[in-house]
Amino acid sequence: MASENARPEVTQTVSFRTDRPQTVGPDAPELPFPIKLSGPVQRGFGRGGKDLGCPTANFPDESLPPMSSVTKTGVYYGYARIYCPEHEKTPLCDEDSKVLPMVMSLGWNPFYKNERMTAEIHILHEFQRDFYGFEMKALVLGYIRPELDYTSREALIEDINTDKRVALNSLGRPAYEKYISDGHF
Ligand SMILES: Cc1cc2nc3c(=O)[nH]c(=O)nc-3n(C[C@H](O)[C@H](O)[C@H](O)COP(=O)(O)O)c2cc1C
Repeated sequence: MASENARPEVTQTVSFRTDRPQTVGPDAPELPFPIKLSGPVQRGFGRGGKDLGCPTANFPDESLPPMSSVTKTGVYYGYARIYCPEHEKTPLCDEDSKVLPMVMSLGWNPFYKNERMTAEIHILHEFQRDFYGFEMKALVLGYIRPELDYTSREALIEDINTDKRVALNSLGRPAYEKYISDGHF
C-alpha cells in the first residue's frame, strides 16, 4: 500500500476506460486475497451520495493495516456486512443485515484532490436507513482497476457504474460466492 508520504503517480488515460473487461481476476481468489477488514463506519466528505449517486461507508485509518498486503491503490471487489448494535432503537431490517456485494475505493480520490488516503466501501444494496458508527466487516476478494483522475464527474460516475457491474459478474463465480458464508461474517 502506498504510504501517505509517497503520493503515487496517477493514471490519466482515456484508453484505459474504453473496452473494460466485464469480469476480472482469476476464477478463484488468489493470495493476498481474501483480505479481512473490520471497524466502525465513519462519515466521509459526503460527496459520494450527493454528487455521485454512490454513498460510501468509510473505514477509519486503524482498520487499514490488512490492506498493506496489496501494493496498489484503486478499486477492489468483495463482500461486506453491517452489524447493528444490540440496543439500537431502530434496528437494521433483515435485508440490510445480510452479507452483500461491495466495491471498495482505496486511494487518494484524485478527482477530489484529497490529502489523505481512504478506504471507502459502496455496498450494492439500497439501505432503509444510515448506519454511521455501526460495525462493518468486509472481505476483499479481488482487484478491478487503478484509481484514475477524471476530467468530469460524469466520467467518474460512468466508471463507478461499470465497477459495480464488474464486481457482480466477478463475484458470481462459485469460488467467490462461497465467501458469503465465510467465518469472518
Ligand atoms: C467504486 C468506486 C470507484 C472510485 N474510483 C475513483 C477514481 O478512480 N478516482 C477518484 O478520484 N475517485 C474515485 N472514487 C472515489 C470517489 O471520488 C469518492 O467516493 C468520493 O470522493 C466521495 O467521497 P465522500 O463521500 O467521502 O465525499 C471511487 C469511489 C468508488 C465507490
